Amino acid sequence: MRDAGRMTAKRVLILGGTEFVGHAFVDEAVARGHDVTVFNRGTRPPRPDVTTVAGDRTAPGALDALGSDSWDLVVDTWSWGPKAVTDAAALLSRRAEKYVYVSSRSVHTYPSAPYAGEDAPVVEASADDTDYSDYARAKRGGELGALAGFGDRALLLRAGLIIGPRENIGRLPWWLNRIARGGAVVAPGPADAAIQYVDARDLAAFGLDTAAAGPLNVVSPPDVTTMRDLLEACVAVTDSDAELRWFTPARLEAAGVEPWTELPVWIPPGADSDGMHRGDVSRALAAGLVIRPLRETVADTWEWLRSIGGVAPQRPDRVPVGLPVEKENALLRDGL
Ligand SMILES: NC(=O)c1ccc[n+]([C@@H]2O[C@H](COP(=O)([O-])OP(=O)(O)OC[C@H]3O[C@@H](n4cnc5c(N)ncnc54)[C@H](OP(=O)(O)O)[C@@H]3O)[C@@H](O)[C@H]2O)c1
Repeated sequence: MRDAGRMTAKRVLILGGTEFVGHAFVDEAVARGHDVTVFNRGTRPPRPDVTTVAGDRTAPGALDALGSDSWDLVVDTWSWGPKAVTDAAALLSRRAEKYVYVSSRSVHTYPSAPYAGEDAPVVEASADDTDYSDYARAKRGGELGALAGFGDRALLLRAGLIIGPRENIGRLPWWLNRIARGGAVVAPGPADAAIQYVDARDLAAFGLDTAAAGPLNVVSPPDVTTMRDLLEACVAVTDSDAELRWFTPARLEAAGVEPWTELPVWIPPGADSDGMHRGDVSRALAAGLVIRPLRETVADTWEWLRSIGGVAPQRPDRVPVGLPVEKENALLRDGL
């Protein structure tokens, strides 16, 4: 663990903490010797090394179960109706030093300019909304709720694509499983298109350690990592005989392939890809963000995936990802 020995132990409350990103926060916090409490409904077995408080935070008064404790840091991974963030931040504003809300770069209005920073326009949203059908508004509403309670003591981590062990969306797991199967693989071009991502563990380390506050884009630097890097790392760590066949965006579009969901991570060049894969992260880098090598993220995710039998957990409120076999076969049969 980088820097773990130099950390001062903190009292950390993690709202959530048992699936993917929250779980990474718990692991990183425990590794730093922090005193960790998690609050969730307890649908997964409690960990012996953290204090678990059970409750449904959408129910009135549920957070009262936390008693009168105070914390150095609250971490909130909520991704549904923002009112739950607003209520928690209001309740804890005098009992915690800082509120770390896991937000998203999706809060920006469309289309996003290339190399947009944190000051780019954001969508209209309400902190009191219980609706979460519009992801951008839900995340922006959560930011407003965190800011209402904590002001300049709120840190808004605007993540982009999050990958790493325990991923419960299935993007990197799908590529790993597909490439491990071997043979000709439809690879979405252009191969040198840049991508941005963050390993959940690096996001968590940054969120726990940084002294920064306010909104920060938290992904890898732009124009460094490419789609080819990602897929070749998958070939290498799975020790596969897969042969990547690079298809043009026009060819994939003509075949009706959905970017992002059917071929995860991939977005054809344009405004959508500028929004997801070409953001400015200079503030986060200056505030201490460290992105581990891509190969390490991919290898650790493969190791984890194999350890659970190759079937990645799937968030029920997200669309399952991956290219249907018949679509892939048709593309390979008809050629580039
Ligand atoms: N994946 C990406 O690429 C991406 C990109 C940008 C941003 N993000 C953001 O990253 C975050 C992902 O977080 P995660 O889901 O992995 O976090 P997590 O903290 O690991 O898991 C969600 C937690 O919420 C708890 N929970 C759910 N409903 C609850 C309720 N009603 N009351 C109390 N607790 C409840 C769950 O436990 P129980 O079920 O036991 O209650 C679980 O512990 C989200 O904010 C998402 O918007 C993701």
